[in-house]
Amino acid sequence: MNAPIGIFDSGYGGLTIFQKIRESLPAYDFLYLGDNARAPYGTRSFEVVYEFTKTAVFSLFARGCPLVILACNTASAKALRTLQQEDLPKSDDPTRRVLGVIRPTVEAADSLSRTKHIGVLGTEGTVASRSYELELAKLFPQIRVVSEACPMWVPLVENRETGTPAAEFFVKRHLNALFSRDEKIDTLILGCTHYPILLPQIRKFLPPGVNAFPQGECVARSLKNYLSRHPEMEGRISRGGNANFLTTESAERFSLAAKTFLGEHEAIFAEHIELK
Ligand code: DGL
Repeated sequence: MNAPIGIFDSGYGGLTIFQKIRESLPAYDFLYLGDNARAPYGTRSFEVVYEFTKTAVFSLFARGCPLVILACNTASAKALRTLQQEDLPKSDDPTRRVLGVIRPTVEAADSLSRTKHIGVLGTEGTVASRSYELELAKLFPQIRVVSEACPMWVPLVENRETGTPAAEFFVKRHLNALFSRDEKIDTLILGCTHYPILLPQIRKFLPPGVNAFPQGECVARSLKNYLSRHPEMEGRISRGGNANFLTTESAERFSLAAKTFLGEHEAIFAEHIELK
C-alpha cells in the first residue's frame, strides 16, 4: 500500500524544510514527526542522537513511510550514515530509504559563493562532527570553511522567544564571532533547520553582501530530483496532498506552535506519540 513521505526533526525546525518540500511536491502525502519532548538534540552525544534518530525513523517506517527525510542537520551528521549503511540493509524491508540535508546544502552553497569562503552555523553536535567541512572538502576542495556553534538558538526557537532582545543578543554574538574569523565569507549556511525561523534577526546583523540561505529550497529540489530518478520509490508514495503531524510532546502545543511556523491559515491537528 502506498504511504506518505516521512519527515523527521528533533522539534519544530524541520517544518522549515517540510514547508518547501510541500510547495515543490504538493501532490504527495507527508507525515511529520517532531521529537519535541527530547529536543534539543544539538548538545547530545553521538550515541544518543543516533539512538533517538533510529527510533524515530523506524517509527515512521512502522507507519508505512517508505522514504524518510532527516530534516535535521544534527541527525544527518550523526545518524544518517549508520542508518543507511548498517540499519537499513538488515531491516525487514531494505528497499526503504533515508535521506539527509547536508549534501544538498553543500552543493547549493558552492553555487552561491563567489569568494569561495563559506560560513557554517549549526548546533554544537553538527559543528563538532565536522560534517560540513568534510562534505565540502570532498566535493569542492577549493572552498574555505569556518564554522560556529550556536547552542542557544534552538532553545530560543523551541520556546518561541525569537522576537526578544535575548534572541538578538545571541544572534549578534555568534555572527560577530564567525565573521571575525574570516571577513571574506560571502555565503552563510544555516546548518540547522531551526535557524530560518531566526532569519529576521540574522539579517539584521549580517555584514552587507553576505547571503544567508535556508536549506528548505535546496533540500526540496534534491528530493524532487531523487524521486524523478527513482520511479520505484516514487510509485510507493501516496498522493492526496495531505500532511499529518506527530509529536512526542503535547499535541495542542505542537498544533499551536506549528501554525506560527507554517502560517495562521494552516489547520494542524498533531497527534502525540511515544518513541521507545
Ligand atoms: N533542527 C536540528 C538541526 O537541524 C536540531 C536542533 C536541535 O535539536 O538541537 O540540527
